[in-house]
Amino acid sequence: MTDLRTALSEAAGAAFAAEGLAAELGRVTASDRPDLADFQCNGALAAAKQAKANPRELAARIAERLKADPRIASVEIAGPGFINLRVTDQALAARATETASDAMAGAAPVSQPRRVVVDYGGPNVAKPMHVGHLRASIIGESLKRLFRFRGDQVWGDAHFGDWGFQMGLLITALAEEGLAGAFMAEGEGPFPAESPVTLADLERLYPAAAARAKAEPEFRDRARRATAELQAGRPGYRALWKHMHDVSMAALQRDFAALGVTFDLWKGEADVDPLIPPMVEELRAKGLLVEDQGAQVVHIAREGDKRELPPLLVISSEGSAMYGTTDLATIVDRRNEQAFDLVLYVVDQRQADHFEQVFRAAYLAGYAAEGSLEHLGFGTMNGPDGKPFKTREGGVLKLADLIEMTRAKARERLREAQLGEDATADEFEAIAGKVAVAALKFADLSNWRGTSYVFDLDRFMSFEGKTGPYLLYQAVRIKSLLRKAADQGFGAGAVVVAEPAERDLALTLDAFAQAVEEAYDKRGPNTIAEHAYRLAQSFSKFYAACPVLAADTVEARASRLALSQATLKQLETALDLLGIETPERM
Ligand code: ARG
Repeated sequence: MTDLRTALSEAAGAAFAAEGLAAELGRVTASDRPDLADFQCNGALAAAKQAKANPRELAARIAERLKADPRIASVEIAGPGFINLRVTDQALAARATETASDAMAGAAPVSQPRRVVVDYGGPNVAKPMHVGHLRASIIGESLKRLFRFRGDQVWGDAHFGDWGFQMGLLITALAEEGLAGAFMAEGEGPFPAESPVTLADLERLYPAAAARAKAEPEFRDRARRATAELQAGRPGYRALWKHMHDVSMAALQRDFAALGVTFDLWKGEADVDPLIPPMVEELRAKGLLVEDQGAQVVHIAREGDKRELPPLLVISSEGSAMYGTTDLATIVDRRNEQAFDLVLYVVDQRQADHFEQVFRAAYLAGYAAEGSLEHLGFGTMNGPDGKPFKTREGGVLKLADLIEMTRAKARERLREAQLGEDATADEFEAIAGKVAVAALKFADLSNWRGTSYVFDLDRFMSFEGKTGPYLLYQAVRIKSLLRKAADQGFGAGAVVVAEPAERDLALTLDAFAQAVEEAYDKRGPNTIAEHAYRLAQSFSKFYAACPVLAADTVEARASRLALSQATLKQLETALDLLGIETPERM
């Protein structure tokens, strides 16, 4: 099923082609002036420039051809040669009727599905997830859903940070505290099956050890040696590593679940460790690996680089694999396992150079087709001072605490608004959880991902304005309306567009396809968030102007029920693409 804008673009493209011009000139967009037109096409201006013709005359010829289209009610030339289009009420009504029962709520699949890995979340062993991981998780989850929705085969991968220097640091710190006991023995084991450390131990030890490594070269060197020994396979270190890994993983999975974030793959850096030696051999055989001050590196600088990019460090002088090494080996792994066409890395913008290095090395080595690796950076979530969000004490806020704080606010707001009063205690808790997630995710995703924004829980949690809770409330209202209709035995029928508010709603429903396409092309869900809000507003106006259950005629009622159904379906679909679940009632 094609949306009207696309259908009109095709028609206008055919008109341009018939004039001997490029069909792409026929691109139709929503009108900038909804008071004058539904859609517009600016192609005549560009065409006239190229052909040195008069734009208004050219526009008139295109318009003449478009007039014959049965979906078009009027074509007008405005200004220097804009073509303004109005569609018929019938065309809008037919499209809305289709949307009400369309599995994709009016959006369209991609023409050529691809195999796509989305690398997001990026949690680390022993470090609790903090607000920085919040954005990676929220944006990545949404993009994963969006690509899958449009027909791609998608794997979301958490890419757990469980290898490298941080593990050596932890082992060294645990040994000093006397917590690593039996695991320090050099032999084959067996080693205790019980974890010697709790999550709390890890969370306490890691920051202290990281700070110490900065201040004390001797401690840092020990940690580096421990890293190299772990990677070389020392059994006690491996056993200890496994405990730290599992203890962290359990906590991370809890946090992700609370956020409604799920992964298809829970792979980590350590999983690709066996791939590193053969990869290093291959890089060497290809002449890409060179020695540099005792380390092994790949030079990735290119002619014409505006900034100097340092080489990719593959093996440190201690013999350890680095962050870039595991990322490169992960590309090999994903090539073997997923045979990807595209990998999207949803990671903080501050890692842009790292990914540029890794991608270039992968292209040089032939592990990925040029352009098949994309880093999708994002800005930070800031505090009121405009700096990355911190707790009142100035520390980094743990994700689990942020989620709990948001839930508490959701409960408070629901009570104030006298919502969820009929719910049992469990249902109320479930509703509060959904409202909390909706508030956080919508606030994040309504911004372009590259933009930083200020964390303002009061605003995010408001039931009015451009917020997640407002959209949930609107969706729940429509659900309740449709339940009432069903109870009274009223069914939906064909849409008839008669009132201006109905027309506006039908046009808004048609615009979903474009919002989805744009989000996909730019890898930014904000256009979907924007659309969801516009749709909810358009529905509100419609609902205020057009009685549904009390409509004058059976046909009008059936039509308005169909419009309500289409709206609900599209709103829930849009919210789902943002990773937001809608409760049945509130
Ligand atoms: N664990 C990393 C961090 O916290 C993020 C991992 C991102 N993904 C990747 N393939 N490097 O900074």
